[in-house]
Amino acid sequence: MSLFVKKSLAQMMAQADDDGKGMKRTLGAGNLIALGIGAIIGAGLFVRTAAASAEAAGPAITISFIVAALGCAFAGLCYAEFASMIPIAGSAYAYSYVTMGELVAWIIGWALIMEYALGAATVSIAWSEYLNNLLGGAIPYEWCHSPFEALHKVTGAAIDQITVAIPETLKNVKNGVLILSDDQFKALPANLTGMVEITRGMINAPALIILLLLTLLLIKGTQESAFVNMIIVFVKVAIVLLFIVFGWQFIKPENHTPYLIPKGTIGHDGFFKWGWGGVLGGAAIVFFAFIGFDAVSTAAQEAKNPKRDMPIGILGSLVVCTILYILFGHVLTGVANYSEFSTAGKEASVAYAIQTYMKGYEWLGSSVTVAILAGFSSVILVMLMGQSRIFFSMSNDGLIPKAFGDLHPKYKTPYKANLILFVFVGLFAAFIPGSVAGDLTSFGTLFAFVLVSVGVWILRIKSPEIERPFRAPLVPIVSTLGALVCLGMIVALDLQTLKVAFIWMAIGLIVYFAYSRKNSKLRKDN
Ligand code: ALA
Repeated sequence: MSLFVKKSLAQMMAQADDDGKGMKRTLGAGNLIALGIGAIIGAGLFVRTAAASAEAAGPAITISFIVAALGCAFAGLCYAEFASMIPIAGSAYAYSYVTMGELVAWIIGWALIMEYALGAATVSIAWSEYLNNLLGGAIPYEWCHSPFEALHKVTGAAIDQITVAIPETLKNVKNGVLILSDDQFKALPANLTGMVEITRGMINAPALIILLLLTLLLIKGTQESAFVNMIIVFVKVAIVLLFIVFGWQFIKPENHTPYLIPKGTIGHDGFFKWGWGGVLGGAAIVFFAFIGFDAVSTAAQEAKNPKRDMPIGILGSLVVCTILYILFGHVLTGVANYSEFSTAGKEASVAYAIQTYMKGYEWLGSSVTVAILAGFSSVILVMLMGQSRIFFSMSNDGLIPKAFGDLHPKYKTPYKANLILFVFVGLFAAFIPGSVAGDLTSFGTLFAFVLVSVGVWILRIKSPEIERPFRAPLVPIVSTLGALVCLGMIVALDLQTLKVAFIWMAIGLIVYFAYSRKNSKLRKDN
């Protein structure tokens, strides 16, 4: 039988309607929008906005948000058409099974693991970092870093010798302690390395703990998880709004002039670093901030009225976040100058802008850190939920072992998938540095966007008669643009990321031919 054997839409819908042993339909339109916002607003907004304006876009980060949102909107429209037409768990994986056949579906399911599982791992590592910041560094280094990371610390008289040998380390000295970066440590002459106290990471325990807590919540129930998510979304949106409203009066027009970074600005050579090129460069960086709206579609099988509410959930969360992002970027680069974010502000950029320029609003600075922690938690929650739903779908199709599809007798959640996922994501979060996974998350997402965009068009041609409660406008223009914009962003990812993604996909093919092809239900039934 062909590698491209397809599921029929009728088979797919029968699976979705199988209410007796299926999931509970508990989510309304409001829950779905909150689910989207829960997954969307996180590190991308709070950390990457400042980085993108400092490195590439300047105050025009607002336009970068519009560009990135347009790319997502094309794909979002296509997702909305599929999710209303085929409302079953599994998202892009499930749509590809109907449109492009089993092999492509497998490939996309495998790529989605990069988006959701690695996304959850990356954000849990960032969560651990922020928690430690909030606690003033109280968690010992060994307990919140992977074994591949090490702290190089110098104290006392040795500081003078080392700063003389490498003068640029002078600016790392704080409160009588010098912390060296990995590169600076490697550059030290051999006779000085003995003066450095090295602490190696052991395990990232806070990352593991937040993953465990959220896994348990997910097992308890979708509605309970949606409720906790709703509270978190309320907190983080409130803080974003407060920053916009209070910060507005501190905007200095001179920080917004000129609006694009001028040619020849120091540190801004290269096409994507200044002017309109910089706006595009900024868009690629803040794309991460939009990842997550597609997670709404993984919950289609738990939506009360998926035909109407799926498009509302997907497009609604995208629109709300885009508006918030543009306003947020406008205020952030108006309160502080974008150039400050390359040094002083960096990761804690929002707190820095508040504490330095918004006199009388210092309390908002610490609230922002709490909102960031809450925001990260909901991103992790929805990513874990999305991944377990994709596993659930793949297991129902026989492409991965049956355990992934078992529902809890009482809670009706795919608890075994949740637990296995916790072990997988937990190992990653506990023992691998955060920098490794971030860009792979973008790759997995963009790859899914391309296939969903192409898939909508294919199904329009092959099955024009199927009822489409929501129709993406201007197909094939919108779907082609969606695929092209996302392909462009894949090409712009760095080579190392593409190599690792390629190896991951190759492993996926081996698993497919060694296991999934033989166990596929569709093949057995036909
Ligand atoms: N959009 C999510 C974030 O910004 C992934 O953290």
